[in-house]
Formats: sequence, C-alpha cells, structure tokens
Amino acid sequence: MRVLSGIQPTGRFHWGNYFGAINQYIELQHEDAAFYFIANLHALTTVRDPEVLQQYTRDAAIDLLALGLDPEHAVLFVQSDIPEVSELTWLLLTGTPMGLLERCHAYKDKKSRGLSADAGLFNYPVLMAADILAYDSDTVPVGADQLQHIEVCRDLAASFNHQYGDIFQMPKAKILDSSAKVPGVDGEKMSKSYNNTLELFEDPKAQRKKIMRITTDSRPMEDSKEPESDHLYQLFSLVSTDAAREEMAALYRQGGFGYGEVKKALAEAAENYFAPARAAREEWAAAPDRVDQVLGDGAAVARKAAKEVLQRASEACGTARSGSK
Ligand code: TYM
Repeated sequence: MRVLSGIQPTGRFHWGNYFGAINQYIELQHEDAAFYFIANLHALTTVRDPEVLQQYTRDAAIDLLALGLDPEHAVLFVQSDIPEVSELTWLLLTGTPMGLLERCHAYKDKKSRGLSADAGLFNYPVLMAADILAYDSDTVPVGADQLQHIEVCRDLAASFNHQYGDIFQMPKAKILDSSAKVPGVDGEKMSKSYNNTLELFEDPKAQRKKIMRITTDSRPMEDSKEPESDHLYQLFSLVSTDAAREEMAALYRQGGFGYGEVKKALAEAAENYFAPARAAREEWAAAPDRVDQVLGDGAAVARKAAKEVLQRASEACGTARSGSK
C-alpha cells in the first residue's frame, strides 16, 4: 500500500492545512509506505516571485519535519525534483477532455469571479493526477476540497488504462473525520485566499491578537448556546484537551459567559498544543544541511518509482524509445 499526498507552498501553513491534512500524513506514516511532497509546481500558478517561492518551499519542508513527519518512516521530497511527473502530465493531457477541466472548481470559481485564468490553473488537476499516478499510489489523504481532483485523477487513469492497457494503479481518496472544514477567524473555511487564517508557527503574541479579534455573534451573554455550531468553539476543540473541551461545551450550553473568555482559553490552548512543534522547528531551521539531505534522499527514492511508471506509460502509448530505459 502506498500513501501519497502533496501540499502547496503558497504561504506559511495554517490550522486548516494541519488539521485537514498534515496530521493525517503524520498518523499514516506509521502504517504504510508514505510519500509526501511539496507541490511547488502547483504553487507556481499563484506565487510569481522566485525568491518567495524558494523560501515557502523551504519553510514547508521545515514545518512538516517539525510537525512530526519522520524521514525514517516517510519519503519527503519537492515536486519539481521529479521531472518524470511533468512528462507524465503531458501524456495524460493528450487524453483529457476540455469539458472535464472546465467543471473543476478552482478554474470555475476564478472564471465566475470574472478573473482571467491561465492554462496552468486550468490544467492543475492533470498535474495533480500525474503526481498521484507516478508513484502507483493507492491512498491519497486529503481534505474534502480536493475530492473533485481525485475523481479527475481516477477518470484520467481509467481512460488511459482503457486506451492502452492496465498501466495505472487506481488511487482512492482518504478523508478522515478530523478533516471536517476547519473554520477561519471569520467562520468561513480557513483559507489563505480568504485572509482568515491562523498560522501554525506565527509569533504567539501576534496570534493572540488575531484570536482576540475573531468575529463572534451578538447574542446576549446569558443565552445558552450550542457549542458545535460556533466557530470559536470549533477552533478551541481542535487544540484543547478532552476535559477542557467538555468543560467549555458545558459552559456554552449553560450560558452566562463572554466570548472574550473563550478567546483567551483558545490562545492559551493553541500555544500549549503547538509548543513542542515550535521547539522542533527551531532545531530543523538551524540545520539546513540536514533538511537538504532529507529532501535529496526523498527525491532519489521518489524518482526511482516515477521512472518505472513513466517507462510503463510511455511504452504503452508509443513515446518510449528503445534504449531510453
Ligand atoms: P493545498 O496545498 O491547498 O492543501 C493541502 C491540504 O490541506 C487541506 N486543507 C484543508 N482541509 C480542511 N480544512 C481547511 N480549511 C483546509 N485547507 C486546506 C487540503 O484539502 C489539502 O489536502 N492540490 C493540492 C496539492 C496537491 C496534491 C497532489 C494533493 C498537488 N498534488 C497530489 C494530493 C495528491 C492542494 O492544493 O492542496
């Protein structure tokens, strides 16, 4: 069984990335052969400054290692270090119906907002399909927003297999319960593009300020409130202990509390929850050669797997040259 997933280095990671994806990666690394990569080619559709992209890519590697991604158990690499994936993307593109990509939400959303999309964004799901198929992945742990892309990947794999024989392994998405939408500070889905994120490694003082500004409703203090439907409580429950969560839920139901109290409790719980990762991050950041070594070793393992799949696919469709193995 091969587990594979990717994450875009489009900025510093936030709670949505962690509770929606990264914590699943970390759990799964102990069960199966896991491949995780930093999707810098996908990020190129939004990050146009080369130095910034380099920095985000590096930060992503350090963050993942600090959060518990263990190179002894999982293969960590950078997407662009595996050029075979880009070639595989082309093989898949030649059999991709335009209509399939026109229905994909990232492109559709952008168009519906009247913005002009580039071909990179339009073809984004095909690169993602190549990412998955290049390593014979079985299981792809992702947040629910990526489900459509996994469906596209399965469609493309099925049609390639139908045309050329049994070349690609059919992958499945794995959505864990904990990946239920993580709300942002405004109650909408947490996302960099909504500017409503709580970052994982932001300065604790700055984070505390952000938390104190979280939007809340204006119901009177004495009213009893349903905790589960409140985004402040939802955020608190991600970082608190079971006992503290139950206590907080009881307080909500009973009423007579102020949201300010909840915000203070949330800031404190967040600081405690991420303290070990924060310390580990400092260690990794101080050892750039170790980070390079991890990414280099990871790329070598991933590349070997991708070469085999690309060879199979190019032989099947007639682009392989004899002696090119
Ligand atoms: P990306 O970088 O947008 O997000 C990485 C992962 O985080 C999850 N996620 C969330 N989950 C719950 N609530 C949120 N608020 C939230 N925000 C982000 C996403 O579902 C995702 O799993 N296209 C992918 C990267 C990618 C990839 C792949 C993934 C490229 N190739 C191959 C899997 C397999 C993306 O944009 O993820």
